[in-house]
Amino acid sequence: MNCSTKKIAFISGATSGLGKELSINLAKLGYHILINGRNQNKLNCLYDKIKSIKGTSTIINLDLKDYNGIDKLGYEIFKKYKKLDLLVLNAAILGTLTPLSHQNPKEFEEVLNTNLISNFRLLRSLELSLKESRNGELCVISSELITNPKPFWGAYSISKAALEQMIYSWHLENKKTNIDVYIARPRPMNTKIRNTAMPGEDQKKNQTPNDAALKLISILNKKNNSNGILTFDL
Ligand SMILES: NC(=O)c1ccc[n+]([C@@H]2O[C@H](COP(=O)([O-])OP(=O)(O)OC[C@H]3O[C@@H](n4cnc5c(N)ncnc54)[C@H](OP(=O)(O)O)[C@@H]3O)[C@@H](O)[C@H]2O)c1
Repeated sequence: MNCSTKKIAFISGATSGLGKELSINLAKLGYHILINGRNQNKLNCLYDKIKSIKGTSTIINLDLKDYNGIDKLGYEIFKKYKKLDLLVLNAAILGTLTPLSHQNPKEFEEVLNTNLISNFRLLRSLELSLKESRNGELCVISSELITNPKPFWGAYSISKAALEQMIYSWHLENKKTNIDVYIARPRPMNTKIRNTAMPGEDQKKNQTPNDAALKLISILNKKNNSNGILTFDL
Protein backbone atom coordinates (compact mmCIF):
# COMPACT_ATOMS: atom_id res chain seq x y z
CA MET A 1 0.00 0.00 0.00
CA ASN A 2 1.51 3.38 -0.86
CA CYS A 3 1.08 6.35 1.42
CA SER A 4 -1.58 8.01 -0.76
CA THR A 5 -4.04 5.23 0.17
CA LYS A 6 -3.11 5.17 3.85
CA LYS A 7 -4.46 7.18 6.73
CA ILE A 8 -2.10 10.06 7.47
CA ALA A 9 -1.16 10.94 11.06
CA PHE A 10 0.98 13.85 12.26
CA ILE A 11 2.59 13.30 15.68
CA SER A 12 4.32 16.28 17.25
CA GLY A 13 7.25 15.44 19.51
CA ALA A 14 7.64 11.94 18.05
CA THR A 15 11.29 11.51 18.99
CA SER A 16 10.78 10.15 22.50
CA GLY A 17 8.30 8.98 25.11
CA LEU A 18 4.62 8.80 24.25
CA GLY A 19 5.00 10.37 20.80
CA LYS A 20 7.57 7.79 19.74
CA GLU A 21 5.49 4.82 20.92
CA LEU A 22 2.35 6.23 19.32
CA SER A 23 4.22 6.63 16.04
CA ILE A 24 5.47 3.03 16.07
CA ASN A 25 2.13 1.52 17.07
CA LEU A 26 0.09 3.59 14.60
CA ALA A 27 2.54 2.65 11.84
CA LYS A 28 1.95 -1.01 12.73
CA LEU A 29 -1.76 -0.35 12.16
CA GLY A 30 -1.06 0.95 8.67
CA TYR A 31 -0.99 4.72 9.18
CA HIS A 32 1.60 6.77 7.29
CA ILE A 33 3.20 8.77 10.09
CA LEU A 34 4.52 12.30 9.76
CA ILE A 35 7.08 12.12 12.55
CA ASN A 36 7.94 15.51 13.97
CA GLY A 37 10.93 16.38 16.10
CA ARG A 38 13.90 18.70 16.29
CA ASN A 39 16.72 16.14 16.49
CA GLN A 40 17.73 14.61 13.16
CA ASN A 41 19.49 11.57 14.67
CA LYS A 42 16.47 10.63 16.78
CA LEU A 43 14.18 11.16 13.78
CA ASN A 44 16.41 8.92 11.61
CA CYS A 45 16.34 6.17 14.28
CA LEU A 46 12.55 6.33 14.47
CA TYR A 47 12.26 6.30 10.67
CA ASP A 48 14.44 3.15 10.57
CA LYS A 49 12.45 1.52 13.36
CA ILE A 50 9.16 2.13 11.53
CA LYS A 51 10.69 0.82 8.31
CA SER A 52 11.89 -2.32 10.12
CA ILE A 53 8.28 -3.15 11.04
CA LYS A 54 7.21 -2.57 7.41
CA GLY A 55 5.59 0.77 8.26
CA THR A 56 6.01 4.07 6.46
CA SER A 57 6.83 7.53 7.74
CA THR A 58 8.04 10.95 6.65
CA ILE A 59 10.46 12.94 8.78
CA ILE A 60 9.37 16.47 9.68
CA ASN A 61 12.43 18.03 11.30
CA LEU A 62 10.92 21.21 12.68
CA ASP A 63 11.43 22.96 15.98
CA LEU A 64 7.86 23.86 16.93
CA LYS A 65 8.94 27.31 18.05
CA ASP A 66 9.55 28.03 14.34
CA TYR A 67 6.08 29.39 13.67
CA ASN A 68 6.75 30.35 10.04
CA GLY A 69 7.94 26.78 9.56
CA ILE A 70 4.62 25.54 10.95
CA ASP A 71 2.74 27.73 8.44
CA LYS A 72 4.79 26.28 5.55
CA LEU A 73 4.24 22.77 6.90
CA GLY A 74 0.44 23.14 6.70
CA TYR A 75 0.73 24.20 3.07
CA GLU A 76 3.10 21.32 2.22
CA ILE A 77 0.93 18.69 3.91
CA PHE A 78 -2.16 19.91 2.09
CA LYS A 79 -0.31 20.00 -1.24
CA LYS A 80 1.13 16.49 -0.82
CA TYR A 81 -1.59 14.49 0.95
CA LYS A 82 -4.74 16.63 0.49
CA LYS A 83 -5.91 15.52 3.96
CA LEU A 84 -4.82 14.71 7.49
CA ASP A 85 -6.65 11.91 9.30
CA LEU A 86 -5.11 12.22 12.75
CA LEU A 87 -3.36 15.15 14.41
CA VAL A 88 -1.71 14.41 17.77
CA LEU A 89 -0.62 17.52 19.67
CA ASN A 90 1.88 15.80 21.94
CA ALA A 91 5.17 17.75 22.12
CA ALA A 92 5.83 19.57 25.36
CA ILE A 93 8.58 20.74 27.68
CA LEU A 94 8.52 20.81 31.45
CA GLY A 95 10.48 23.87 32.56
CA THR A 96 11.72 24.09 36.14
CA LEU A 97 9.50 22.97 39.01
CA THR A 98 9.57 25.97 41.29
CA PRO A 99 7.34 28.52 43.03
CA LEU A 100 5.69 30.58 40.31
CA SER A 101 7.32 33.88 41.19
CA HIS A 102 10.75 32.20 41.16
CA GLN A 103 10.35 30.91 37.63
CA ASN A 104 12.69 32.54 35.16
CA PRO A 105 10.50 34.75 32.92
CA LYS A 106 12.28 33.61 29.76
CA GLU A 107 11.69 30.00 30.71
CA PHE A 108 8.04 30.74 31.49
CA GLU A 109 7.65 32.13 27.98
CA GLU A 110 9.47 29.20 26.41
CA VAL A 111 7.16 26.68 28.10
CA LEU A 112 4.08 28.62 26.99
CA ASN A 113 5.49 29.00 23.49
CA THR A 114 6.16 25.27 23.15
CA ASN A 115 3.15 23.82 24.96
CA LEU A 116 0.50 26.33 23.94
CA ILE A 117 1.42 28.75 21.15
CA SER A 118 3.00 26.11 18.91
CA ASN A 119 -0.17 24.03 19.28
CA PHE A 120 -2.25 27.05 18.30
CA ARG A 121 -0.02 27.44 15.24
CA LEU A 122 -0.24 23.73 14.37
CA LEU A 123 -4.01 23.71 14.69
CA ARG A 124 -4.33 26.85 12.59
CA SER A 125 -2.01 25.48 9.94
CA LEU A 126 -3.29 21.89 9.76
CA GLU A 127 -7.02 22.57 10.22
CA LEU A 128 -7.76 22.62 6.50
CA SER A 129 -6.13 19.22 5.91
CA LEU A 130 -7.87 17.78 8.97
CA LYS A 131 -11.24 18.94 7.64
CA GLU A 132 -10.54 17.23 4.31
CA SER A 133 -10.36 13.83 6.02
CA ARG A 134 -13.59 11.83 5.98
CA ASN A 135 -13.12 11.03 9.69
CA GLY A 136 -10.54 13.44 11.04
CA GLU A 137 -9.35 13.03 14.62
CA LEU A 138 -7.69 15.62 16.82
CA CYS A 139 -5.99 14.22 19.89
CA VAL A 140 -4.47 16.56 22.45
CA ILE A 141 -2.12 15.39 25.19
CA SER A 142 -2.88 17.34 28.34
CA SER A 143 -2.17 16.51 31.98
CA GLU A 144 -3.97 15.25 35.08
CA LEU A 145 -2.78 18.46 36.77
CA ILE A 146 -5.91 20.02 35.26
CA THR A 147 -8.17 18.05 37.61
CA ASN A 148 -5.59 17.71 40.36
CA PRO A 149 -3.65 21.00 40.57
CA LYS A 150 -0.33 20.89 42.42
CA PRO A 151 2.06 23.61 43.54
CA PHE A 152 5.41 24.21 41.79
CA TRP A 153 4.39 22.94 38.33
CA GLY A 154 4.42 26.59 37.23
CA ALA A 155 4.26 27.35 33.53
CA TYR A 156 3.78 23.68 32.61
CA SER A 157 0.41 23.28 34.36
CA ILE A 158 -0.71 26.73 33.19
CA SER A 159 0.16 25.82 29.59
CA LYS A 160 -1.90 22.62 29.78
CA ALA A 161 -4.95 24.41 31.25
CA ALA A 162 -4.78 27.02 28.49
CA LEU A 163 -4.29 24.30 25.87
CA GLU A 164 -7.47 22.54 26.97
CA GLN A 165 -9.40 25.83 26.90
CA MET A 166 -8.13 26.50 23.39
CA ILE A 167 -9.37 23.07 22.27
CA TYR A 168 -12.79 23.62 23.86
CA SER A 169 -13.13 26.94 21.99
CA TRP A 170 -11.98 25.40 18.71
CA HIS A 171 -14.37 22.49 19.10
CA LEU A 172 -17.37 24.78 19.69
CA GLU A 173 -16.47 26.65 16.52
CA ASN A 174 -16.09 23.45 14.51
CA LYS A 175 -18.98 21.29 15.71
CA LYS A 176 -20.38 20.86 12.21
CA THR A 177 -17.25 19.14 10.92
CA ASN A 178 -16.50 15.41 10.96
CA ILE A 179 -13.59 15.90 13.33
CA ASP A 180 -13.63 13.91 16.56
CA VAL A 181 -11.78 15.59 19.41
CA TYR A 182 -9.98 13.80 22.25
CA ILE A 183 -8.17 15.22 25.25
CA ALA A 184 -5.96 12.68 27.04
CA ARG A 185 -4.61 13.32 30.52
CA PRO A 186 -1.86 10.75 31.06
CA ARG A 187 -1.06 9.30 34.46
CA PRO A 188 2.68 9.22 35.18
CA MET A 189 4.68 7.59 32.37
CA ASN A 190 8.38 6.79 32.48
CA THR A 191 9.63 9.39 30.02
CA LYS A 192 12.12 12.22 29.91
CA ILE A 193 9.58 14.75 31.24
CA ARG A 194 8.55 12.56 34.18
CA ASN A 195 12.08 11.53 35.08
CA THR A 196 13.15 15.18 35.09
CA ALA A 197 10.20 16.19 37.28
CA MET A 198 10.50 13.26 39.72
CA PRO A 199 14.08 11.93 39.51
CA GLY A 200 13.96 9.97 42.77
CA GLU A 201 10.67 8.16 42.38
CA ASP A 202 10.19 4.41 42.00
CA GLN A 203 9.74 4.13 38.24
CA LYS A 204 8.14 0.70 38.57
CA LYS A 205 4.98 2.47 39.82
CA ASN A 206 4.58 4.33 36.54
CA GLN A 207 3.23 3.08 33.25
CA THR A 208 5.51 2.77 30.25
CA PRO A 209 4.90 5.13 27.33
CA ASN A 210 4.19 2.05 25.21
CA ASP A 211 1.35 0.99 27.55
CA ALA A 212 -0.09 4.51 27.41
CA ALA A 213 0.19 4.60 23.60
CA LEU A 214 -1.67 1.28 23.27
CA LYS A 215 -4.43 2.48 25.60
CA LEU A 216 -4.77 5.73 23.67
CA ILE A 217 -4.99 3.92 20.34
CA SER A 218 -7.70 1.61 21.66
CA ILE A 219 -9.72 4.69 22.72
CA LEU A 220 -9.22 6.31 19.31
CA ASN A 221 -10.31 3.06 17.62
CA LYS A 222 -13.60 3.01 19.53
CA LYS A 223 -14.40 6.42 18.00
CA ASN A 224 -15.96 9.37 19.77
CA ASN A 225 -19.41 9.70 18.29
CA SER A 226 -20.70 12.06 20.98
CA ASN A 227 -20.20 15.20 18.88
CA GLY A 228 -18.49 16.49 22.01
CA ILE A 229 -14.95 16.32 23.28
CA LEU A 230 -13.95 13.03 24.82
CA THR A 231 -11.75 13.88 27.80
CA PHE A 232 -10.19 10.98 29.68
CA ASP A 233 -7.39 9.92 32.00
CA LEU A 234 -4.86 7.75 30.26
N1 LIG B 1 5.42 11.62 31.28
C1 LIG B 1 4.34 11.87 32.04
O1 LIG B 1 4.18 11.36 33.16
C2 LIG B 1 3.28 12.77 31.51
C3 LIG B 1 2.14 13.00 32.29
C4 LIG B 1 1.13 13.83 31.80
C5 LIG B 1 1.25 14.39 30.54
N2 LIG B 1 2.37 14.15 29.79
C6 LIG B 1 2.43 14.75 28.45
O2 LIG B 1 2.71 13.72 27.51
C7 LIG B 1 3.26 14.32 26.33
C8 LIG B 1 4.49 13.56 25.88
O3 LIG B 1 5.53 13.77 26.82
P1 LIG B 1 6.50 12.61 27.29
O4 LIG B 1 6.15 12.30 28.68
O5 LIG B 1 6.50 11.52 26.27
O6 LIG B 1 7.90 13.38 27.35
P2 LIG B 1 9.19 13.38 26.40
O7 LIG B 1 9.73 12.00 26.28
O8 LIG B 1 10.08 14.44 26.92
O9 LIG B 1 8.60 13.81 24.97
C9 LIG B 1 8.40 15.16 24.60
C10 LIG B 1 8.63 15.26 23.11
O10 LIG B 1 8.37 16.62 22.70
C11 LIG B 1 9.46 17.03 21.87
N3 LIG B 1 9.61 18.48 21.84
C12 LIG B 1 9.76 19.31 22.89
N4 LIG B 1 9.92 20.57 22.44
C13 LIG B 1 9.88 20.52 21.09
C14 LIG B 1 10.00 21.49 20.06
N5 LIG B 1 10.20 22.80 20.32
N6 LIG B 1 9.92 21.10 18.77
C15 LIG B 1 9.72 19.78 18.48
N7 LIG B 1 9.60 18.81 19.41
C16 LIG B 1 9.69 19.18 20.70
C17 LIG B 1 10.67 16.34 22.49
O11 LIG B 1 11.75 16.39 21.59
P3 LIG B 1 13.30 16.23 22.10
O12 LIG B 1 13.52 14.76 22.18
O13 LIG B 1 14.08 16.90 21.03
O14 LIG B 1 13.39 16.93 23.44
C18 LIG B 1 10.09 14.94 22.71
O15 LIG B 1 10.08 14.21 21.52
C19 LIG B 1 3.54 15.78 26.70
O16 LIG B 1 2.49 16.60 26.20
C20 LIG B 1 3.50 15.78 28.21
O17 LIG B 1 3.15 17.03 28.74
C21 LIG B 1 3.38 13.38 30.24
